[in-house]
Amino acid sequence: MSRIPNVSLSNGVLMPAAVFGVYQIRDLKECQKAVEDAIAAGYRAIDTAASYGNEAAVGHAIKACGLDRRELFITTKLWVEDASEEGARRAIDRSLDLLGLDYLDLYLIHQPVGDVYGAWRTMQSFYQNKILRAIGVSNFASDRFIDFAHHNAICPHVNQIEINPFCQQQETLPILNKFGTTPVAWAPFAEGKNNLFTHPTLESIAHRYERTVGQIVLRYVHQLGAVVIAKTVRPERMVENLNIFDFELEEDDMKRIAALDTNTSQFFSHRDPKIIEWMCSRHIEH
Ligand SMILES: NC(=O)c1ccc[n+]([C@@H]2O[C@H](COP(=O)([O-])OP(=O)(O)OC[C@H]3O[C@@H](n4cnc5c(N)ncnc54)[C@H](OP(=O)(O)O)[C@@H]3O)[C@@H](O)[C@H]2O)c1
Repeated sequence: MSRIPNVSLSNGVLMPAAVFGVYQIRDLKECQKAVEDAIAAGYRAIDTAASYGNEAAVGHAIKACGLDRRELFITTKLWVEDASEEGARRAIDRSLDLLGLDYLDLYLIHQPVGDVYGAWRTMQSFYQNKILRAIGVSNFASDRFIDFAHHNAICPHVNQIEINPFCQQQETLPILNKFGTTPVAWAPFAEGKNNLFTHPTLESIAHRYERTVGQIVLRYVHQLGAVVIAKTVRPERMVENLNIFDFELEEDDMKRIAALDTNTSQFFSHRDPKIIEWMCSRHIEH
């Protein structure tokens, strides 16, 4: 397997460039097995969230894998109902408890909704106390991100956003770069939407490099400068999705994939009032 490189966050913390994601693996036994398989395949970074309802399963897998805690990079996220100064305190404690950990490598505000400034003040103080090694945001569009970055003591170390061939964030990436914030790509495969895995352009490039479409897509997002998070429950795909660091896409192929961008989310808009209403009213049972 090709070695997974590290990316240095703006505070010097090293984050693996390939992360295993557990969104929509709701069955807790299946989630624990997937994380154990992912670690066996070579993953060292896991991405979960309070809202995924599977932090405890991730915690069981961390314990069962037998690796030294310092070899792992664990990310989880704050849901909207806890986006406040006091709520973030509760949420961080709860996530640590469910994961069975005494520190997190990265903690993110999941959505740009709620009292995110209050939540960030708490996160900054947990960061100063070394309970969070790095802190960041997720789903912050450029305008929200610039405002937030300018009006807090600590600029987010990470912004986790949707990045895939159909939604490439070409406007956002240079802005994050300017602030020293590392982009992390969720849904790099767009969850297979738009027939991504059988797209003729991606298939023809995959054929030339003797790689799979999945590997071409992950390599493309890596070459855009983002950390990639991929989800699969199949061990053979975990290995496949990690084998992207021993080849490079040439400029012409980068351009062909750049041309697939529709500059539109494959899921939903963070400016849709119905989506914001849903986020504001969603309660998570723990
Ligand atoms: N911050 C946020 O708001 C946010 C939102 C969404 C996701 N995320 C994070 O990002 C992670 C990844 O995103 P995602 O899970 O939404 O979608 P994704 O990784 O783009 O796609 C996952 C889908 O692709 C399939 N797949 C994976 N590898 C494959 C391969 N090599 N060949 C063919 N099919 C493959 C999986 O099926 P199988 O499982 O059957 O293999 C699954 O259906 C999440 O798990 C989560 O950690 C964050």
